Amino acid sequence: MSCRAPATVTIVVRAGAGVIVETSAQMAEYKVGYFVGSLATKSINRLLSKALVRVAPPELQLTEIPFKDLPLYSYDYDETYPPVATAFKDAIAGVDAVLFVTPEYNRSIPGGLKNAIDWASRPYGKNAFTRKPSAVIGTSPGKIGTAVAQQHLRSILAFCNSPQMNSVEAYIQFDDGLISEDGQVSNQSTREFLQNYMAEFHGFIARVYTVLPRTT
Ligand SMILES: Cc1cc2nc3c(=O)[nH]c(=O)nc-3n(C[C@H](O)[C@H](O)[C@H](O)COP(=O)(O)O)c2cc1C
Repeated sequence: MSCRAPATVTIVVRAGAGVIVETSAQMAEYKVGYFVGSLATKSINRLLSKALVRVAPPELQLTEIPFKDLPLYSYDYDETYPPVATAFKDAIAGVDAVLFVTPEYNRSIPGGLKNAIDWASRPYGKNAFTRKPSAVIGTSPGKIGTAVAQQHLRSILAFCNSPQMNSVEAYIQFDDGLISEDGQVSNQSTREFLQNYMAEFHGFIARVYTVLPRTT
């Protein structure tokens, strides 16, 4: 975990019977690896990932974890992972938390993303997602904004023993021009929503590591 120059935040604690205690705490910095579930060159989810990088609090250091060069997983590889898969798992090991920005394909997540998660979860006993905090978000042109895909992904991440941010949920309906090529969000309320989403994720990561400090 990276811990440079933490910012101070105020935490409000309800101490029972209407008593509210205000205290201040330091919010550490964290490395977050993000997965863009789409391999498409014009992916709207890639645009969303750029927007999220823009609005994230400065204490979150975001880097993409690419997976497009992974072969299709089989447990035949478990004995000796190919270098591309070892590098992929090392990238996950090197971050404090993971963020999934994914489209919905046929009411689930894209096959390429599922393949990447399968690689990360194996060999048995070496699951890269164990105790790694995660969050999911996605965008689609349709009104449900990847909700079904996100439910599938949550189920997968639960099995992979990743503590997940349950709230805020984020189902973003994409309209033309909502996010520019460089990640600028044209709609103010969407921009503020995404900003709050990333701030909540920061708080969630901090809470997970407060309860479950890393040993490695
Ligand atoms: C194979 C495929 C399956 C799709 N299935 C769904 C779906 O189940 N639900 C949905 O809302 N959109 C679906 N779509 C439309 C996508 O939401 C749309 O193509 C979107 O741009 C995908 O995100 P991306 O541009 O980041 O890849 C599907 C698109 C493809 C190519």
